[in-house]
Amino acid sequence: GADVEADISKIEPGQLIRVIWRSKPVWITRRTPELLDSLTQIDDLLKDPNSEQDQQPEFARNSYRSIKPEYSVLVGICTHLGCSPQHLKDGAFEEYVEGVPEGFHCPCHGSKFDMAGRVFNNVPAPLNLVVPPYMYIDDNTILIG
Ligand code: FES
Repeated sequence: GADVEADISKIEPGQLIRVIWRSKPVWITRRTPELLDSLTQIDDLLKDPNSEQDQQPEFARNSYRSIKPEYSVLVGICTHLGCSPQHLKDGAFEEYVEGVPEGFHCPCHGSKFDMAGRVFNNVPAPLNLVVPPYMYIDDNTILIG
């Protein structure tokens, strides 16, 4: 079928894996406690920190935007005109947002998103990255779709 199972058991803390769901890239990131903590402190920099502006699952209306905070699941398509943003970490993202070491940067027109897929202020993308429908089949397996 069109649904995709993703094995998350081998994702290291801080690592991002990519799967394809309905021809779209989906990013699954295992976030560290430090990163999760940092996400709660940047609301002022974001257009829609609690995902109130778009159709989003109820569990996405907060700083983490995921069923289990540790694992983020996002459609990796910019909400501006559909390019694929780049994942920048280890301080590389600070070139775009001071004080935020990790995030996603869209090379097409410069939109920026945090590690929950939330869009930063003053960029062309209007909305946060889409959280696809998904569920946990067991602790190691996510079903997307
Ligand atoms: Fe990403 Fe325009 S498509 S900023």
